[in-house]
Amino acid sequence: MISTDTATLSLRPDRNLAMELVRATEAAAIRATPFIGRGDKNAADGAAVDAMRAFLGTVNFDGLVVIGEGEKDAAPMLYNGEHVGNGRGPACDIAVDPIDGTSLTAAGRQDALSVIAASDRGSMFDPSAVFYMNKLVCGPEGEGVVDISRPIGDNIRALAKAKGKEIEAMRIAVLDRPRHAQLIEEIRAAGAGTRLLLDGDVAGGINAARYDSRIDMCVGIGGTPEGIITACAVKALGGVIQGVLSPKDDQERDKAIAAGHDLDRVLHAGDLVKGDNTYFVATGVTHGELVDGVQRNGHLIRTESIVLRSKSGTIRRVVGDHLVEKWL
Ligand code: FBP
Repeated sequence: MISTDTATLSLRPDRNLAMELVRATEAAAIRATPFIGRGDKNAADGAAVDAMRAFLGTVNFDGLVVIGEGEKDAAPMLYNGEHVGNGRGPACDIAVDPIDGTSLTAAGRQDALSVIAASDRGSMFDPSAVFYMNKLVCGPEGEGVVDISRPIGDNIRALAKAKGKEIEAMRIAVLDRPRHAQLIEEIRAAGAGTRLLLDGDVAGGINAARYDSRIDMCVGIGGTPEGIITACAVKALGGVIQGVLSPKDDQERDKAIAAGHDLDRVLHAGDLVKGDNTYFVATGVTHGELVDGVQRNGHLIRTESIVLRSKSGTIRRVVGDHLVEKWL
């Protein structure tokens, strides 16, 4: 039954910042569209960054980019430390990934997203020391059940039991990378199937956490920034994210230790983003299991987005029809 208890459901609901941020991911996805399948990932990213920045400027908030995209491969970026928004309203940390899946976009493949996550100022983990993180993401059934420090086979068996599923029916998403060869072997040896991702472990993680998905768990080493963005979504969806920083070489390891990081520590959702005020928005650039990509229908451009807010636990799907002539 839907509650009408005013203690549960405030009569004066507060603002959902994500409902405004979604215009920025829609704009980024639309502007990236001409570059789908054109082989130039930096051009696609650049178009998405410019559109996202312009739309963020209209939003009533004082956003500080804590997680920008681009250091890894010198892609065009909304840089760390950049202030976005019109400077009025709540002070927030924001994480942007104008396109998660720039190579997917350039190749014309599925599963590229435009993403923004936001939370209270000072609440996001600073990922600057180490680019990669080993991650495990699954739905709420995994709470108190999975542990990234244990072998993957144990986690698959424990989660299958908690979900009441046969192990053979379990699907585990992993980035298809040589570094995951043994992990992939172990998943299959445990009796589960893999969903190999060419790129895009934000979508992989969210699909693992969300209800009614074909993916049960997303594991393996991917970007630390993507892990924090995923944590903002997991806080809204309910579910589990665990991460362990994974330096790529001795130099990065030394830098992380000097910055005070414990490289054995398991980081949970609350370590990656503090508090219960997180927002997450994603718009499909190319078609995917989470959301549809941008589609052109005559004089309309259709976008599909997912809008999450942890405080209310609301999950919205937003379909936008945009007039082509406004985007010429
Ligand atoms: P970008 O499209 O933003 O470059 O990221 C794609 C991505 O697949 C992420 O989803 C993932 O976390 C990371 O790259 C993995 O890094 P790598 O490609 O170096 O394995």
